[in-house]
Amino acid sequence: MGILEVSDLVTGYGEAEIVHGVNLEVGSGEMVTVIGPNGAGKSTLMKSVFGLIDCWEGGVRIDGTDVTGYRPDEITRVGASYVPQRENVFPNLTVRENLEMGAYIDEEVSENAYGEVYERFPILKERRNQKVGRMSGGQRQMVAMGAGLMIDPVLLLVDEPSAGLAPDLVGEMFERIRRIREDGTSILMVEQNARQALRYSDRGYVLDQGENAFEGPGEDLLESEEIEEMYLGRAG
Ligand SMILES: Nc1ncnc2c1ncn2[C@@H]1O[C@H](COP(=O)(O)OP(=O)(O)O)[C@@H](O)[C@H]1O
Ligand SMILES: [Mg+2]
Repeated sequence: MGILEVSDLVTGYGEAEIVHGVNLEVGSGEMVTVIGPNGAGKSTLMKSVFGLIDCWEGGVRIDGTDVTGYRPDEITRVGASYVPQRENVFPNLTVRENLEMGAYIDEEVSENAYGEVYERFPILKERRNQKVGRMSGGQRQMVAMGAGLMIDPVLLLVDEPSAGLAPDLVGEMFERIRRIREDGTSILMVEQNARQALRYSDRGYVLDQGENAFEGPGEDLLESEEIEEMYLGRAG
């Protein structure tokens, strides 16, 4: 049984249907990446999985619970965290306050939860009392991820963690996510930096115009000439 099971999911905005019946699964302990052209509906899919927009048809199960129609806070309680692509930190709050927000469903936040995040991202411990708005893009991304980890999630949903990072930091970010997975949190990631992301992933899905186009082990997708031509480009 998967940690995340998305079945025939249909969603969109207003009258506009964007995702037309997508199927996707993340197994226990897996790191799975969704790639695809700009505007394919990757972020929309993820928002709908996390209950930020309604699921029109189909369903979502997380860790054995049917969460279709759940609100984001209810989904957080089931054990999933979501790190949005943009505006994923509170710039006027300190690092520690941002982490505290990540654990908003807990009445009391244990020191242990902060400690585990600081262990994973030592720079955040050093800067724990600094306002996040003054930090670099890479460090902000660590804050966003750290906040998501405060509830010790079974599933982490991350939308474009490498967006806006200097090229030499991209691999490092994927490496960190890989380590999160090794410590027992299953990962669903959306990435524009497709080639590099797939190298770190167990499996990948290609989403095109709101539909499943391809899926398979990361290596297989990287080796497919068709996918290379259509979705990966030459560089990278
Ligand atoms: N809040 C919104 N309201 C209306 N349309 C939106 C909204 N967000 C995204 N869209 C549209 O949905 C489509 C898919 O967008 P998105 O899911 O962000 O794609 P991706 O993440 O794959 O680049 C695009 O056509 C986009 O313009
Ligand atoms: Mg997107």
